[in-house]
Amino acid sequence: MPPSDPDEIVVLDDVRKKFGDAEVLKGISLVARRNETTVIIGGSGAGKTTLLRIIVALEKPTSGKVFIDGEDITPLGERALNRVRKKFGMVYQYAALLDSFTVLDNVAFPLVEHTSLPRKEIRERVVEKLRLLGLDPDVEKKFPSELSGGMRKRVGLARALMLEPPILIYDEPTSGLDPLTSRLVDDLIEEMRERFGVTSIVISHDIASCFRIAHQALLVIRGQIVARGTPEQLAHGDSELARDFIQKSGVSYDVIPPPKRR
Ligand SMILES: Nc1ncnc2c1ncn2[C@@H]1O[C@H](COP(=O)(O)OP(=O)(O)OP(=O)(O)O)[C@@H](O)[C@H]1O
Ligand SMILES: [Mg+2]
Repeated sequence: MPPSDPDEIVVLDDVRKKFGDAEVLKGISLVARRNETTVIIGGSGAGKTTLLRIIVALEKPTSGKVFIDGEDITPLGERALNRVRKKFGMVYQYAALLDSFTVLDNVAFPLVEHTSLPRKEIRERVVEKLRLLGLDPDVEKKFPSELSGGMRKRVGLARALMLEPPILIYDEPTSGLDPLTSRLVDDLIEEMRERFGVTSIVISHDIASCFRIAHQALLVIRGQIVARGTPEQLAHGDSELARDFIQKSGVSYDVIPPPKRR
């Protein structure tokens, strides 16, 4: 059944994924709501990246349904899937910028790939996005190696935003960053939501980040969602698995300042 609520922008219904004999996702059902941030937490090898790849239509589930913006994408062919993929902006771990390309060429990449806009127009749009993200337009000439970690994240975000996707997907956005820069990235994710109305789906090992930004947190263990709810419900709710997972992370819910949105 397709979702009846148009705010249910990403809906998974009993999604399973097998690689050979190994079932990596064992019946995942979830709803991500428009203009909210959903954070997926869980240990290594739990199936988080596989789940993301299914959501962004890079991988097909073995069974189950995936609704994006109300449309069941599981029966679609390559051509229709390409249309669906454009609804997503991906922000990769370590920003995944191309080292031999300038910032301008990195950020321009989606427009060069997916549009036939003239070079001048593309450059204007890049400069506009860099400015929106608080980067000096001068950075356009720089190479990724000349930027700080936080600046690289902003450039990665600028690139993910170029096609103005309604949904932003982040795979481990704060890993490898110092705590201060990680908090800046949290603010940036929240800012994207406030200013552009995007829906965010974030995979994270960073429990402090999850507490700050999540409207909804999902705990995945061995291919199943074992707990879901607000961060507070995970930290202090009925699920022993969730309380345990959070306790082992060493981060206490009670010492995290409430997010800006509250
Ligand atoms: N293309 C593939 N072919 C075979 N097995 C795969 C494939 N992709 C993932 N797997 C397996 O699926 C399981 C889950 O992998 P996945 O990358 O989704 O985990 P993860 O939760 O993202 O882990 P991490 O936190 O380490 O990134 C692993 O056992 C992995 O070896
Ligand atoms: Mg992963």
